[in-house]
Amino acid sequence: MSSDLSDQFSRPLRDLRISVTDRCNFRCPYCMPKEVFGADHAFLQNSALATRDELVRLVRAFRVLGVEKVRLTGGEPLLRTDLPEIIRALKHELQVPDVALTTNGWFLEKQAAALQAAGLDRINVSVDSLDETKAGVMNGLGFSVGRVLRGIDAAATAGLTVKINCVVQRGVNDDELSALCAYFRERGHPLRFIEFMDVGTTNHWRQEQVVPALDLIARINREWPLEPVGPAYRGEVASRYRYRDGRGEIGIISSVTEPFCKDCHRARLSADGKLYTCLFAAQGHDVLGKLRGGADDAALVAFIAGIWRGRNDRYSDERAELISRHESRPKVEMSYIGG
Ligand code: GTP
Ligand code: 5AD
Ligand code: SF4
Ligand code: SF4
Repeated sequence: MSSDLSDQFSRPLRDLRISVTDRCNFRCPYCMPKEVFGADHAFLQNSALATRDELVRLVRAFRVLGVEKVRLTGGEPLLRTDLPEIIRALKHELQVPDVALTTNGWFLEKQAAALQAAGLDRINVSVDSLDETKAGVMNGLGFSVGRVLRGIDAAATAGLTVKINCVVQRGVNDDELSALCAYFRERGHPLRFIEFMDVGTTNHWRQEQVVPALDLIARINREWPLEPVGPAYRGEVASRYRYRDGRGEIGIISSVTEPFCKDCHRARLSADGKLYTCLFAAQGHDVLGKLRGGADDAALVAFIAGIWRGRNDRYSDERAELISRHESRPKVEMSYIGG
C-alpha cells in the first residue's frame, strides 16, 4: 500500500513500532533500572492495553497511510500471551509485508516455533555480554545469557531471520566487542552495536559512557577487517559493515554521534495505544482513546494522518545543541513507548 502522506520534513510513514506491554522481566540499568522500576512500579493495568482486535483496527489505519513494516516491542513482548494471535492477524488479516519482533530472548526457546508458525518474519534479540556474570549485571537481575543464546538457536532453527542487538557502555561491556563478533559470525547472525542513548529519565545516561560509532568500527576493524555496505533500505537505523573475509556483517546504530533523523519514517504506538512521532517525544496522541470513543476506520485514518503531517521531530539531530545549552526536554520511558 502506498500513500502520499509526509511530515514537515517530507518523511513518509513506513514503519510502526508497537509496544505490546510496558512490563519486562529484565531490569537492564540502561532502560529500566531496578532501583526505579522495583516490583511495585506503576505499570499499566491490563484494561489499558490495546487488545488484539483493537490493534488490528489501529494497524489497518496505519496500513492505509503507507506502513509496510510492523515491529512488536515492549517492555518484553513475549510476556504478552496472545502474541501469536497478534502476529497472525498482522500477517494474514492485514498482509503486513514485514512483521518483526524485538525481544530479550528469555522466553524464546519455548516460543520461537509458535511465533514463526504464526507468521513472524524476523526477530532481533538483545545480547549485551557473553559472560554470565556481566550479562547478569547488564540485565539487572542475574538472568543467564546461556538461556538467551539457546533461544537464539531455537529461533534460527525455526526459520526466523535473526539479528542481535548489543548496547555498548564504556567501561561496562566494551571489552567484549571482539568476542561478540566471533560468536555471532560463527552462527551467521548480523550483530548490531548500539550507542548508549539518553532515552527516558531514569537510566543515568552520561555522554562519557557512549562509545562513538567511529571508535567501535576502528576497534573491531583492527581484529576483524571490515568494509562498509550500503543500507538495505532508505532510513535503515543501522550502518552496515561486512567482514572482509566474507563471513557475515555487523551494524552500528549511532543515534548519538551520527543521528539518522533525516530519513526517520517510524511511528511508535505505546502499550496503551498512544501515537508518538519520535522515540524522544514527551507527548503521545491518544489513538486508542479515539477508537474506544467510537471513531470509525476513516476517522482513525484522518486523525493519524493529521498528526503525521504536523510531525517535525528530530531529537537526535538536536541533542548536541540541547546539551551544549544545558537544556533538557521531558521524555517518556522506552519500555512504554517501544524502543
Ligand atoms: P531492523 O528492522 O532489523 O533494522 O530493526 P531496528 O534496528 O529498526 O529495531 P530494533 O528494535 O532492533 O532497534 C535497535 C536499536 O535502534 C534500539 O536501541 C532502538 O531504540 C534504536 N532505534 C530504532 N529506531 C530508532 C529511531 O527511530 N530513533 C532512534 N534514536 N533509535 C532508534
Ligand atoms: N540506549 C540504546 N539502546 C537501548 N535499548 C534499550 N535502552 C537503550 C538505551 N538507553 C535497546 C535494547 C533493545 C532495543 C529495543 O533497545 O537493548 O535492543
Ligand atoms: Fe527489558 Fe529490553 Fe528494557 Fe532490558 S532493554 S529492561 S530487556 S525492555
Ligand atoms: Fe526518528 Fe526521533 Fe529517532 Fe530522530 S530521534 S531518528 S526523529 S525517532
